[in-house]
Parts: sequence; C-alpha cells; structure tokens
Amino acid sequence: MRIDVITLFPRSVDEALSESIIGRARGEGFLKLSFVNPRDFSGDRRGTADDKPYGGGTGMVMMAEPVYQALKKVKQKGSFTVLLTPKGRPFTQKLALSLAKKKRLIFICGHYEGTDERISPLADLELSVGDYVLTGGEPAAAVVIDAVTRLIPGVLKKADATVNETFTGSLLEAPHYTRPALWRGKKVPAVLLGGNHALIDNWRKTKALELTKKYRPDLLKRLR
Ligand code: ADE
Repeated sequence: MRIDVITLFPRSVDEALSESIIGRARGEGFLKLSFVNPRDFSGDRRGTADDKPYGGGTGMVMMAEPVYQALKKVKQKGSFTVLLTPKGRPFTQKLALSLAKKKRLIFICGHYEGTDERISPLADLELSVGDYVLTGGEPAAAVVIDAVTRLIPGVLKKADATVNETFTGSLLEAPHYTRPALWRGKKVPAVLLGGNHALIDNWRKTKALELTKKYRPDLLKRLR
C-alpha cells in the first residue's frame, strides 16, 4: 500500500511509524510512506501555509491553496483521501479494515485550528480518533496508519493474528500471560498451561465475554 501524508510536520509522523512492526513493514515494502509539505506550495518565500481566522479568534488556520496544491501533487485515480479532524467520523476497527483494502491512501493533517473549511469537500472521508482535541492531525494520522498497516496481509507473520483480537469480533480480547507461570505469588490460569486447545478456546471466549460485560457493555449491545 502507498500512503501520502500531507503535513506541515512530516518528521513527527515519520518517526512515530519507524519502529517495530510498522518500521519493518516499511522496510519490507508492505507500506510505502511519503510526505508532502504544504509549505512547499506556499505563495511566498517564507513558506507561509497558515493565516489568521476570518471573524477573529485565537490560533491559525491552514490555508486552502497550499493544501490543495499538495493534494493535487499526490492524488491519482483510485486514491482515497482522508482528512483528520475532531469533527470526523469516529475511527473504528471496522473502518481500519475497510481502509486496509485500498491501494493508495492520502492523509491530510490539519494543524493549529485545522484546515480552511473549503478543504473538507476534497476528502472522501473525515476521521476523528477520539473526542478530544490534538494540536494537529499528525498523531491521529499515525494512529490510523498503524491500525491499517498491521491489517495488510503479510505484515503480521501469523495469518490469523488479527482474527481473534479485540474489536474484530466486537468483543474485548481475553487476557494474555507469559512466563513465568508464577510471578510474585500470582499464578497464570491453569487452563492455559494444560495444552488442551478446545478448553483454552472456551476459556478465552468466556473471559472475553466477562471483560466486555464489565468494561464495554456498549460493545455487547452493538453485537445483538
Ligand atoms: N486533529 C485534532 N484533534 C483530532 C482528533 N481528535 N482526531 C483527528 N484529528 C484531529
């Protein structure tokens, strides 16, 4: 998959997606991540890409033209454009699965008070990563790109690694344990040590239900 990120701060997204599984996915060519800076399309020599809001108020707004030019540079037939904004659709695993099927994605990161409203219609989807306000769309883009990249076939070495996990089946996952079996007086549940996979499966399903009931009953309602 190819992803172009339109941002005033490419390094912050690049660095957030350089380590561990996503870093490896980039190294192995599963994800080609490129950056375009609206500053490079500014009308002046200082690279101005933001301005004061009409009507007054605090903060700066990213100007439409430099963002538009950056988008024009990377947009191709078949590209799917996502604008990160707190007013967007709440990001979910279901949306991650649907974005993971695209060949080319473009992410537009607003910064400061966001982008000029006239950029919104250029996006195929406006996405929010939660009901809070970030200083910019960059951390949000990194979150979405991480969740999408791990779903690209081949990125996770075990083909079924994403099948049973939290949210894919609308339930929280059962708890995980690793060695040692006894840690500071706390034991790993015996069933996990027994090697009976039918029993383990059953235990995990029960735990997943229990946890979901306790922490996220809203997910169970959606399941029904
Ligand atoms: N930009 C600022 N806050 C954001 C959020 N919660 N989601 C997506 N983009 C944002």
